[in-house]
Amino acid sequence: MSQRVRITDVSPRDGLQNEPGVIPASDKARLVELLCGTGVDEIEVASFVSPRWVPQLGDGAEVLAALAARFPAGSQRPMFSALVPNEKGLDGALAVNGAAGRPLLEKISLFTAASETFSRRNTNASIAETFERFAPVLDRAALAGLRVRLYISCVVACPFEGPIVPDTVAAVARQGLLAMLRAHSGRPGDAPGIPGIEIDLGDTIGAATPETIAPVIERTLAVPEWGCTRGLDAGLVLHLHDTFGRAASCVVRALSLGVRSFDSAAGGLGGCPYASTPGRRAPGNIATGTLVRAIRDAGFEAGIDDAALARASEFAASLAARRPLGEGAS
Ligand code: HMG
Ligand code: MG
Repeated sequence: MSQRVRITDVSPRDGLQNEPGVIPASDKARLVELLCGTGVDEIEVASFVSPRWVPQLGDGAEVLAALAARFPAGSQRPMFSALVPNEKGLDGALAVNGAAGRPLLEKISLFTAASETFSRRNTNASIAETFERFAPVLDRAALAGLRVRLYISCVVACPFEGPIVPDTVAAVARQGLLAMLRAHSGRPGDAPGIPGIEIDLGDTIGAATPETIAPVIERTLAVPEWGCTRGLDAGLVLHLHDTFGRAASCVVRALSLGVRSFDSAAGGLGGCPYASTPGRRAPGNIATGTLVRAIRDAGFEAGIDDAALARASEFAASLAARRPLGEGAS
């Protein structure tokens, strides 16, 4: 039997944050609902960042309220996660779970970068300052029993600084693992702790080639703190944007290096607004259909229903008023 690869569809978050207009919360919830039927393992459903910075996603609580109604307790569905930059964002995520009376959001996604300039532009904080913000968020996530993902952006190149050295990425990943492990083991009493830890390598502008992504993965996997994650659900994720059509070949290379978890966006939507440079809009994520095809061609399985994915991708693309990318997954 072929080995199973995990997919997180980030189209409701990364996919819609870079669209010029604000899409109604009901349409966002409908997109999540369609994605729930595709077989993906996780959906990044919302973002609890400042609405001044990303007005497109200022309605996270509303989207989650709609999802709470559509998915009653006990429903079979993929894991739901949301982007959180600081304690205020965590307040928003926890309020959602409080209102639902259950862990509707099972995971929070923190984000930093391997580039100082990008970190400042995206979060108004240096890399070190992002980790200062994370410390109380991680402690509270451990108390609440939330899983945690840490994105590291610009792992191959930064739109402002150019190429990034793989050792820089590994150093940030090490800091991230240490911070997450400290919050987990430092939990008081019988608090559940962080049940899952992920480092997610973001090729924010789609600069990677199989040759340049390989050393980033290898150096990151060589970080010794992975050895301390035994007993936790811990792993490395790859988050590719597909500017030059090379993301699928990077997936194949990553699979050969042992990566078994990838992000993608239905219809190939996506892009970080703060990665855009004059005259150049930030590029979309690898389309989920393209990712599925790359996984299958490499001899792995992703458990995806192609017809359901085609429906979700069409709908995602219709929200962004463009043709869906990556369809025809076989
Ligand atoms: P700041 O301005 O430095 O924040 O922004 P602040 O703490 O000084 O607060 C300023 C105001 O924002 C205050 O409101 C806060 O309450 C409010 P005021 O008193 O002025 O009315 N505020 C918030 N409101 C709602 N939710 C919050 C929140 N935090 C503060 N969480 C901050 C710092 C991090 C908040 C801001 O820079 C921000 O929101 N940045 C997010 C940018 C973003 O979302 N980028 C896209 C996602 S990252 C990405 O796409 C990359 C990824 O896909 C991986 C890859 O591809 O590489 C993940
Ligand atoms: Mg992204």
